Amino acid sequence: MKRNALSQLGQRIAEPPIAWLMKQTLEHPHIISLAAGFTDNPSLPLTETQELAQRVLAKAGSGRAALQYGASAGDTRLRELTIKRLQQLDGGKAEAPVDRTIITNGSQQLLYLLSEALFDLGDIVIVEDPTYFVFLGIAQSRAIDCRGVKLTPEGVDLADLERVLETLRKEGSLPKLKALYLVTYHQNPTGYTTQLERKAAALKLLKRYEKAAGHPIYLLEDAAYRELRFKGKDVPTALTCAGNERVIYAGTYSKPFATGIRVGFGVLPKELFPIVLRIKGNHDFGTANLLQQILAEALATGAYERHLKQLRARYGSKAAAMVAAIKKHFPAEVVWREPEGGLYVWARTPERLKTGMKSAFFKRALAQDVLYVPGELAYADDKHRPKPNHEMRLSFGGASEKDITEGIARLGRLLA
Ligand SMILES: Cc1ncc(COP(=O)(O)O)c(C=O)c1O
Repeated sequence: MKRNALSQLGQRIAEPPIAWLMKQTLEHPHIISLAAGFTDNPSLPLTETQELAQRVLAKAGSGRAALQYGASAGDTRLRELTIKRLQQLDGGKAEAPVDRTIITNGSQQLLYLLSEALFDLGDIVIVEDPTYFVFLGIAQSRAIDCRGVKLTPEGVDLADLERVLETLRKEGSLPKLKALYLVTYHQNPTGYTTQLERKAAALKLLKRYEKAAGHPIYLLEDAAYRELRFKGKDVPTALTCAGNERVIYAGTYSKPFATGIRVGFGVLPKELFPIVLRIKGNHDFGTANLLQQILAEALATGAYERHLKQLRARYGSKAAAMVAAIKKHFPAEVVWREPEGGLYVWARTPERLKTGMKSAFFKRALAQDVLYVPGELAYADDKHRPKPNHEMRLSFGGASEKDITEGIARLGRLLA
């Protein structure tokens, strides 16, 4: 008899490494967590959301509609407002029709739906080195093969992308390659933003290899942190580039408004839209209507924009606290960059100083009640290159400014 009744996926799926980090934070509240993916708690839009919910529920008609099941693709008004906003950000130049826009339970759900729509066992996705580790979790559980491509502060390294594509061609595995996944704004974990030229060039490169692949190769643009910019200028999306018929755009309202409302969206290529919609139909046949209506109201009334403005200032100030502390406490050998948005600073120690979960440094930091995300967790299991183990993701999202300063000071003393 088999020892359990699990599916292959059920047997394969690994515990997410971040689960342990989250557990530490929850069980030991005195720990200073520069690891948690939580957003800033005190600035969550409490009174705004009360007022918005009140408005939605005030009238019997709209109130009942909000409390009823909706459509799989999402609330029409929210889809329209979403594209209106995207076009405002992109100067009207994005190829983003409302009828190819889907509302999802956070952008995370879209990433999962896409993993089902595009990938069979053993299919390939190219990911940034490093990348968003929860995406790596999806890939691991669904046995999708990840190939790492170098990342620079301006975005994906094009020469290295070409090298990876050439390797796949020579191996004869291009038919398995379905997508390039890029986190293009204030990337998780590095904070880097991909420049428009890089997106355009990446699209061109992918196109060149489509003939050998025998099918489209998509650029999955994850723009989760786009709206959390507190410095510099926004960059247009890949939806504005030539070749945008291959772009899948994943956006979210959860980081810029409320992580608990957890609504995201996708703009999908024509041929993918009905497929993803059917899969979503099987998952949940629609994101919670009430949450969508609250967000639509937030967008329509300007409450969203007002909240975002405050939030940007708040994260700008928290980032500045982290930067000041790093300047003061970290030795010069540690390489890092000032963030212009998002929630993270990426710090690279000299190679001899390992930062992984099993490293002496990580254990010492924990003994000093400080947690960070070891950089190694953000690298795919790609046997074609060694996995770096001397980086840290430091988040200024959840901790207070006082704790950020103290946490960095403690890490600085250990580094010294
Ligand atoms: C890069 C990236 N993409 C997507 C997500 C998913 O966010 P949500 O599902 O809340 O939209 C996150 C969350 O941390 C993220 O960091």
